[in-house]
Formats: sequence, C-alpha cells, structure tokens
Amino acid sequence: MKNGDQKVGRKKFGSTNESVSAIGLGTWGIKSYENAARAFEYAFERGINFIDTAEIYNTEDFVGRVISELGRDNLFITTKIWPKNLVTRERTLKAARSSLKKLGIKAADLILIHWPNNEMKIEDQVRNIEAVYSEGLSRYIGVSNFSVEQMETARQSTRSTEIVCDQVKYNVSTKEAEKNILPYCKKNDMAVVAYTPIENGNVSGNKILKKVGEKYGKTPVQVSLKYLMREENVIPIPKTESLEHVKEIIGAWGWSMEEEDYNNIRTSDI
Ligand SMILES: NC(=O)c1ccc[n+]([C@@H]2O[C@H](COP(=O)([O-])OP(=O)(O)OC[C@H]3O[C@@H](n4cnc5c(N)ncnc54)[C@H](OP(=O)(O)O)[C@@H]3O)[C@@H](O)[C@H]2O)c1
Repeated sequence: MKNGDQKVGRKKFGSTNESVSAIGLGTWGIKSYENAARAFEYAFERGINFIDTAEIYNTEDFVGRVISELGRDNLFITTKIWPKNLVTRERTLKAARSSLKKLGIKAADLILIHWPNNEMKIEDQVRNIEAVYSEGLSRYIGVSNFSVEQMETARQSTRSTEIVCDQVKYNVSTKEAEKNILPYCKKNDMAVVAYTPIENGNVSGNKILKKVGEKYGKTPVQVSLKYLMREENVIPIPKTESLEHVKEIIGAWGWSMEEEDYNNIRTSDI
C-alpha cells in the first residue's frame, strides 16, 4: 500500500467515550495557510480528525477556517490557555471565549492548561480551567507539560469533570515521558498527547530509524511515529503544512513493527 492511501484508525481518548484519530495534527509555526489547508483537508479525508492549536500559536483563525470547510461535528478540536490567563476564573473564561470566537465555534472539544502557572497553586488553576467545562465552553479539560506530581494534584482538584490528558514532549530522542508520565496516564485512563513527535523533522536523517524502516519499506518519520503509537493511550500530533509530508505521516498507520525493533528504539540513544 502506498503512502497515504489508507485511513488512519481511531483510539479511545482517555476516560472519555470519544474515539479520535490515532494521529493528530499540530499547527504551531504554520507559514503558508493555503498549503496547510490543503494538507489538513487531505489528512481529514484519510481519517485524521484531531487538531491541536493554542491561544498563543496565532493559528486559531486558521483552524476556524478548517472547521468551516470540513464541518464542526467531524473534528476534535483542542486549544490551550496560556498560564498568565489562568490567574482568575474570569480571566480564564475570557481567554477561552476569545479562542472560541477565533475558532468560530460555541465549544471546544478539549481545552488544556498550556503550561502549569508556577506562581499559583495547581488546585486554583485547575478550578479555573474547570470553569470552562462547567460554563459549557469545552466538552473536556486537560493539562500540558504537567509532571506526575502536578497531575496527581490536578486530578484531585476537580469537582465536576476529569482531567483527560497530559500533552507532553515525547519523541524517539526525548523518551523521559516513558519513565513516569506514560505509566501514570495508563493507570488512570488518561491520554498522552505527544508533541514535537518527529523532533522538528530531525528524525528523518537518523541512521537507526532508517535501518529499521528498510525492513518494512518505511521512512524514519513513519518508524518514529509508529514507535510512539504502540501504547494504546498515546496520540502523536506532528505539525505539517506539506502535502508530501502529510502523506508520509499517514503512512505511519496500517502496518506493524516487530517487538525487537521497538526494543531497539527504546534502548537506543537517538
Ligand atoms: N503543549 C506544548 O507545550 C507544545 C509545544 C510544542 C508543540 N506543541 C504542539 O505539537 C505540535 C507538533 O510539534 P512541533 O511542531 O513542535 O514539532 P514536530 O511536529 O515534531 O515537527 C514539525 C516540523 O517537522 C516538519 N515535518 C513534518 N512532517 C515531516 C516529514 N514527513 N518529514 C520531514 N519533516 C517533516 C514540519 O515542516 P513542514 O510543515 O514543512 O512539513 C515542521 O517543521 C505543534 O505544532 C503544536 O500543535 C505543543
């Protein structure tokens, strides 16, 4: 099967009853919105419905246009609130409403704390983000860049809903998340959304990944994404605005890799 011909499958998203595409798309640093729109439409036609943005990316307007093109109900939209806007309930709600206005939707599927605000108690920022759920501005809430300790406090601070994911940096060169975050999220039925999953494209030139890929007729990018997806609760969100790259990304789905290759990547310094 050629790159991009197959449809990306779905995964259950944390403790929700939602299933979302096993690969999502990031939007940070898009340069050509025209090219990106083409790549996103192609990805959508091949099953990708998970889109990640944030109030600081300057891409919520773009995602809004994608939503109006592809249909609200067909997409799972994540945005994130920047730490300084978490200081009060009112400010958090204001930030969320501003994001929704740019996205052109009444409610997001998921709103995250982008980074923990280190000048506030975790309990207080979590209650403020929880307000976006109770006010109907997001169907689910989650966190990003939270340690296990911060997640534990966060999970105990909610009253009306649960923290459904932690979005963290996770790729074949940065595997710290495997030590604590992955096992913690697995145990507590939370999703792990893996950002910078192809190390800004740098995985392309890696010799170990190239060698593994040769066995399957796959590229280093495809091998590296396949590696991240082996855990049922992990969803990588590579960013691309290139049609060729999106085809390659989709080709990470629809084949299997042997355990010895996972182990090789797990134990190698890439
Ligand atoms: N929560 C957080 O704090 C946080 C932090 C960072 C990122 N994120 C999210 O995660 C998303 C992804 O992370 P990221 O953008 O940092 O890094 P990434 O997805 O690992 O890498 C993106 C870069 O790789 C290139 N690329 C894409 N596909 C490729 C391919 N097949 N071959 C070679 N190069 C390829 C892209 O260029 P082209 O566009 O030209 O393909 C882009 O320059 C972000 O967009 C954002 O939504 C979240």
